[in-house]
Parts: sequence; structure tokens; C-alpha cells
Amino acid sequence: MTARDGQAAVELEGVGKAFGGRRVLAGVSLTVPPGGRLGIIGPAAGGKSVLLKLIAGLQRPDAGAIRVLGHDLVAAREPELAALRKRIGMLFQNYALFDFLSVADNVAFPLLHAGVAADEIDARVAARLRAVGLAGSESKMPAELSGGMKKRVGIARATVARAELVLYDEPTAGLDPVTTSKIYDLLRADQAETGSTAVVVSSDVAAVAAFADTIAMLHDGRIRWVGAAAGLFDADDLVVRSFARGEERDGAAVLSRSVEAARPAPGAWP
Ligand SMILES: Nc1ncnc2c1ncn2[C@@H]1O[C@H](COP(=O)(O)OP(=O)(O)O)[C@@H](O)[C@H]1O
Ligand SMILES: [Mg+2]
Repeated sequence: MTARDGQAAVELEGVGKAFGGRRVLAGVSLTVPPGGRLGIIGPAAGGKSVLLKLIAGLQRPDAGAIRVLGHDLVAAREPELAALRKRIGMLFQNYALFDFLSVADNVAFPLLHAGVAADEIDARVAARLRAVGLAGSESKMPAELSGGMKKRVGIARATVARAELVLYDEPTAGLDPVTTSKIYDLLRADQAETGSTAVVVSSDVAAVAAFADTIAMLHDGRIRWVGAAAGLFDADDLVVRSFARGEERDGAAVLSRSVEAARPAPGAWP
């Protein structure tokens, strides 16, 4: 089954999730059209990463419905989920690189899994590593990499198989403004090339709002606000507006604004 034209790439309806009796998501509804770019923002520990894992089919919801690329994730059994996951790329917040594999082998992993021929794998891995500014790092091990480099390896791995849906969990956390702007340039270029759908969770509100077409704010386990990214900073909802402007996040606000200032600066990777 594939997503038909006009059918949402991702659709959540009343999704709930609790851990040990603590409700993290309390009825989340969201729709992302094919080729859409959704940014998800919200307070720390608010369930943003959990939401992405539910969309990726890595966790199951306690309540509600989730449809991804034409599949009903609540009804799907493991073989169907495994097949669907091959069509989804994911950058994990903590990178989740395989410690025992080199940079090149980490990036090659989804292609190997998809049965791509060895010489084609080498060419595609090399091209992806060039795109994220890591040409020459093929044989390094994850332990030798900085946080920013691990993030870029994770992005290369998430996008190497030209997934139809790519989920990015904090793609720029801890990165400097110039690298942040380059990461989003890369996400934009990838999407233009493949027509994929992107869902990006980010605490860097200004940067993700510049990338996304739509922003959703997760607050108290629900989508408190969803709308055009351009309208986020002037949202009628005071809680949303002050969160977006960084008035509730002190240090983060300064960082976000400096990212925005540095945005239109293409060039070499630092
Ligand atoms: N596998 C898990 N088991 C127990 N609690 C979890 C698990 N995953 C997430 N949580 C809890 O759910 C809440 C939301 O987590 P998370 O989605 O990581 O937040 P965010 O990404 O918005 O910062 C946190 O309180 C976290 O401790
Ligand atoms: Mg998180």
C-alpha cells in the first residue's frame, strides 16, 4: 500500500501515551500532507521525542489513531511496521549511531538493509558524506566525533535511502549558528530533490520556523497551536507567542535570534 495523492503522509487523531501512569500525550491530533514540512516545538520533556517515535512506529500509542504513508500503525503487526520503517528516515536526538561501525558503515546501514548493490552503496554514502561536510571521515569511529559531527552522520544516515518521510529530532541542538543554518539548507535541498515529507522537532524555534511551512506547539500533552510558520511569532495565544519569542526560555532565545541573524550565509562547512 502506498500513500495516494492527496492522502496525508502523517495523520494523528487523539493520540495518547503514558509511561508508568504518567500521561505524556493526552490526545494529539495532527496532519502532515505529502511533501509538507512540519516543525514541532514545545517545552522540554513535553513528549516531542515520544511523538516522533510513535510516528516512526517505534512505540505504540495507548489511545488514538496513527496513519503513516497509508498504513494504520495501531493495527499493523511487526512485519508491516518493519517494511514501513524502511520508507522512513529518522535522526534520533541522541544520534543512536552504532558505536562499533565506522562513519561510512553507519551511513550505509539503511542501504544494506534495503538490498542495494555494494558499489552503489559506496557511491551513495560518499555523496551523502560530502553533502553533510564529512568527506574524508569515512573510516572514523563514532567515539572520535564531536557532537556536531555525530549529528551530521545521523542526518546522512536518515536521508541516504531517500526515504519518503524523514523525522528529525533536534537536528541542530548544541550546534553553532553557522552549522545550524547549513543543516537546514541541507534539509531544504534534500526535500526539494526527493519530494519527501519532513517532521522536525526542535528547541531552536527561530531556525525551525524558518525551515518549516507549518509549526505545531505541543503543550500539556496536546497540540496547543498549529499554523503557518510565519504566523508563530505573532500568534494570538500569549503562551504560544511568548514561548516562540523565547520569553520563557531565557538563554535559548538569544541563541535562536543569533541563528536567525546568521541564516542566509551559504558557504563551506566550518
Ligand atoms: N521509554 C520511556 N519510558 C518512560 N518514560 C519515558 C520514556 N520515553 C519518554 N519518557 C518520558 O516522557 C516524557 C517526555 O519525554 P520526551 O518525549 O523525550 O520529551 P521532549 O522530547 O519533549 O523533551 C519525559 O518525562 C520522559 O522522561
Ligand atoms: Mg526530545
